[in-house]
Amino acid sequence: MKVLKHVVAGILSVGLVSFSFAASQEKSLYERLGGKPALEVVAKDLSDAMAKDDQLKKYCGNIKGERKEKALANLVSFLCMATGGPCKYTGPDMETAHKKLGITGKDWDRFVTIAVKVLDKHKVPEKEKNELLTAVASLKDKIVSK
Ligand code: HEM
Repeated sequence: MKVLKHVVAGILSVGLVSFSFAASQEKSLYERLGGKPALEVVAKDLSDAMAKDDQLKKYCGNIKGERKEKALANLVSFLCMATGGPCKYTGPDMETAHKKLGITGKDWDRFVTIAVKVLDKHKVPEKEKNELLTAVASLKDKIVSK
């Protein structure tokens, strides 16, 4: 009987330890943002806002049709991968996609302002917004060329 008590106590405590371990494992940024559907909405809004923006439209305003669809799908899968989601990005690397465009540091600042507006519009919580912006900021040197 005493042995059985120990076995039961042992099983319970292993259960508790693994439960609290699971509870302390934070979900990926991808999951916390709302997964693929949320990234699709944010990426679409972001690229629409950039295409309409007086400062940035010279880069993206005239991309149309299939190229536009493809670039948007690539942006979604890049963001999915960069936030820990289950995607394999197969588009051009960030330097190849941007260095030829001649994007300036001022353009980058404008992009960040627009990105913050879009994330706020979709009520992305402060913590997730900052994590996403930090991940994006790490790409600046690959994207800005002037
Ligand atoms: C000032 C900021 C930015 C501008 C003006 C900009 C503009 C552009 C343009 C015009 C393209 C299309 C290039 C082409 O068709 O050859 C492109 C491609 C792409 N951009 Fe950006 N971008 C900026 C920042 C970013 C950031 C921060 C990310 C990542 C989070 C990003 C992700 C991508 C991806 C994944 C592609 C590849 C799409 C493809 O070619 O299929 N961009 N960008």
